[in-house]
Amino acid sequence: MPENISRTADNISIADAAQLLREGRLVAFPTETVYGLGADASNVEAVKGIFRAKGRPADHPLIVHIPESAKLSDWAENIPEVAYILAEHFWPGPLAMILPKKTTVPLEVTGGQNTVALRIPNHPIALKLLQAFGGGIAAPSANRYCRISPTTAQHVLEELGNAVDLILDGGACSVGVESTIIDLTSSPPRLLRPGHISYQELEAVLQSPVAVPEILSGTPSIDPGSPRAPGMMALHYAPETKTWLCSSETIGIIAKQLQLSNQHLGLLRYRTLIPDSPNITQLTLPEQPDTYAQGLYAALRQLDELQLDILLIERPPLIEAWRAVNDRLNKAATLIE
Ligand code: TXA
Ligand code: MG
Repeated sequence: MPENISRTADNISIADAAQLLREGRLVAFPTETVYGLGADASNVEAVKGIFRAKGRPADHPLIVHIPESAKLSDWAENIPEVAYILAEHFWPGPLAMILPKKTTVPLEVTGGQNTVALRIPNHPIALKLLQAFGGGIAAPSANRYCRISPTTAQHVLEELGNAVDLILDGGACSVGVESTIIDLTSSPPRLLRPGHISYQELEAVLQSPVAVPEILSGTPSIDPGSPRAPGMMALHYAPETKTWLCSSETIGIIAKQLQLSNQHLGLLRYRTLIPDSPNITQLTLPEQPDTYAQGLYAALRQLDELQLDILLIERPPLIEAWRAVNDRLNKAATLIE
């Protein structure tokens, strides 16, 4: 098998991909959220390869992707009934659940913790790959540590290049931000990372409350005291360009001031019209949170590549519907008020 082949996923390449996983190699694949960097979750050496390729610290746990909920018990123990209820409603889909791990699950996968994150992704290529492979595929987002998650195969190539053995190309991801994570080991269950599935949807299915951080806090979505928490780094999904998050009211004024000092600006807007000028490159995202989320990472990447002096992002409303987007923006940018 040649190194670093990138091909579209027909049946042959899915079989090849599953075989590569069996050989302990790294296969990037599309999911509905973002692209994942996959390895055989039961192969410790392969899992270590993920951390090497990403430059990710060993104590940051991975999500194990499984082909069907019947396999939950291969990875987790003392599984509460609510896990099956959530699986029934939301899988395959953009929800990861934290459960007590089985002793057989390598600590390398869980970053040394006694819990494991599990999910069935809703993407035909991911599902075919999981079925062909049969086991669990550990897969973080297929980006280098602290960089923006990839939502196309091209992004994966730009991020990881030769560090990945195969990239399955499934086009652009439909959700565009990482899965919702719910911790079922705490009581009440706790939202660790907001995503396409809102906590109200989870509560509606569970018919009981889910603990969530204050929406207006502007702080990361999780308990900053816990080393296991996702995205606890202040700038976790950050472009390399200096990036500021500005309100709709101030973004025009700030843009004007920066232009006066001859700075080249990138601007990510969704609502406020900013006059065009030779020093400004503007991108516009939709005013609707789901379609905004879909385009967010590609837009950030596009602006980041222009090597501008500064990127300004127009901050969406601090309301529930925008929780996942605001969470990612808080981690990508410095808030300017
Ligand atoms: O949408 C997604 O979830 C994508 C696709 C590829 O499935 N994956 C993804 O993986 O976003 P990653 O590694 O970039 O983010 C997973 C997050 C990490 O921030 C990690 O801290 C958290 O899940 N996590 C994993 N296992 C955990 C555990 N046992 N307890 C708490 N958090 C955990
Ligand atoms: Mg990630």
